[in-house]
Amino acid sequence: MKSVSPICAETAPGPCSIVIFGASGDLAARKLIPALFRLFERDLMPESFLVLGCARSAMSDEEFRSRMRGALSSAGISVPKKLSDLFFSNVKYVSGDYSDKATYARIEQELSAFEKSSAVSGRLFYLSIPPSVFEQVLQMLGENGLVQEDYDGIPWRRVVIEKPFGRDSSSAADLERHLSSTLKERQIYRIDHYLGKDTVQNILMMRFANTVFEPVWNNRYIDSVQISVAESIGVEHRAGYFDKTGLLRDMFQNHILQLLSLVAMEPPSSFESERIRDEKAKLLNSLRPFPADPSELSRLIIRGQYSSGSVNGKLFPAYRDEPGVPKDSITETYVAGKFHIDNWRWNGVHFHMRSGKRLSRRISEVAIRFKQIPHSIFGFFGAGEIARNELILRIQPDEGFSLKINAKKPGSKFCMGEVDMDFKYRDLGAPVAEAYERLLLDTMQGDSTLFIRKDCIQLSWAFLDPVLKAWEDRGNLSSNKLYFYPACSDGPEESRTIFGSETSSWRDL
Ligand SMILES: NC(=O)c1ccc[n+]([C@@H]2O[C@H](COP(=O)([O-])OP(=O)(O)OC[C@H]3O[C@@H](n4cnc5c(N)ncnc54)[C@H](OP(=O)(O)O)[C@@H]3O)[C@@H](O)[C@H]2O)c1
Repeated sequence: MKSVSPICAETAPGPCSIVIFGASGDLAARKLIPALFRLFERDLMPESFLVLGCARSAMSDEEFRSRMRGALSSAGISVPKKLSDLFFSNVKYVSGDYSDKATYARIEQELSAFEKSSAVSGRLFYLSIPPSVFEQVLQMLGENGLVQEDYDGIPWRRVVIEKPFGRDSSSAADLERHLSSTLKERQIYRIDHYLGKDTVQNILMMRFANTVFEPVWNNRYIDSVQISVAESIGVEHRAGYFDKTGLLRDMFQNHILQLLSLVAMEPPSSFESERIRDEKAKLLNSLRPFPADPSELSRLIIRGQYSSGSVNGKLFPAYRDEPGVPKDSITETYVAGKFHIDNWRWNGVHFHMRSGKRLSRRISEVAIRFKQIPHSIFGFFGAGEIARNELILRIQPDEGFSLKINAKKPGSKFCMGEVDMDFKYRDLGAPVAEAYERLLLDTMQGDSTLFIRKDCIQLSWAFLDPVLKAWEDRGNLSSNKLYFYPACSDGPEESRTIFGSETSSWRDL
């Protein structure tokens, strides 16, 4: 496929400081510092900036810098010394306890010293800390005046929070109360790194920058939509977190419902963040609620957990035998569901969603399956024998998309077969940017399009609450079964059989 030069609109943000709470942790080292450095390499960091790491671990500026240099090389970034010296000359570190006023006084001192050079410098506070400390840090930021904006938000003060955004509707509402007691909604950036991927943003471009898709993007032409987010890894070092969370919260509440809303929402009037988020909220509001009777749930959504399994002679343990997982855990590592959207566009279309850990392959994709042709003019084949068209949007890996269509194949007059029109991002030559690069740049520029608004969080939890409640009730295990599947397989057999013929054709992982 040929491509013309892209129309790119990308400029460096104005001066700002980025304070990373939890700077000694995994996310800062693996994602945040590498993403900031890559932006710097691409001339997309502000001309004047300060990165201020903050955590309880005692470290000097130099020790922190050296640790972060190590993080860059672990992230596979080869760093020319001159460039990295220039980047790290803007990096500092403050250690302290989050409950201690003195910690915030030291942060304020560093920020004020930096801001002497620019009166309109923004401040970005990234909460890369466990959710249990969100509330305390937010309160202290507010009480110590670090996030105070004037009435029109100049200079800006923004706070990024990482998921999980609560565990259910009520804990999410508690978190929102804390956030809104300190910050205005425009200051809050709720991040789901999935939405920063080029391939996820491509869903909007495909739908709304082309004339060919939108006319057929409805129940007249689309039979079903499948969203699959599969991981080949197990819980790794996150067993403690995952066992209390489960896959429904970890993957469905955000990634999958956000993907679904991008695929199914109505066209927004502009690419402006509020217009897009309005449409996402409308879509989430149109999801058909799960039945109140828990015993009816299993027709629409099932859960599974991996047992041991082997591939190429290598044995993988069962979830319950992973370090840190209780032997009687009923936490789900797999979920498959059939959702419906109650509006004119989607009436009758099945939306099949599945996600799991320790499956046969790592893949995230959206498959749009079109209806059969209404009538066949090819005498040898009935309409039902001609393959349906499919549009596959590959989120990762092998980022790109393909359209399966029927075409004349060389050979006899009636020789027909499926061909793939395939586009791969890697063919463009440019590397696909890391999601955190996009998202950090957007936060510095004040573009909240790819971040999740409060109402979308509430709507997602409200949709999933009945399922969470039913699954957490151990007494209810007979009607809300936990299906086991071998590690490295395609998930429980029941995900095919329970949904009958409609999902018997899950795409292969
Ligand atoms: N890592 C990921 O890939 C990932 C992905 C999605 C979302 N997240 C979210 O991003 C946030 C950070 O993740 P992470 O993996 O970097 O977490 P982490 O490594 O477990 O913790 C980050 C830092 O927080 C500090 N910390 C830990 N427990 C604390 C406590 N009880 N009180 C105060 N500080 C504490 C520690 O620094 P000190 O001991 O030095 O203070 C630690 O280095 C979390 O909210 C997580 O859920 C992470």
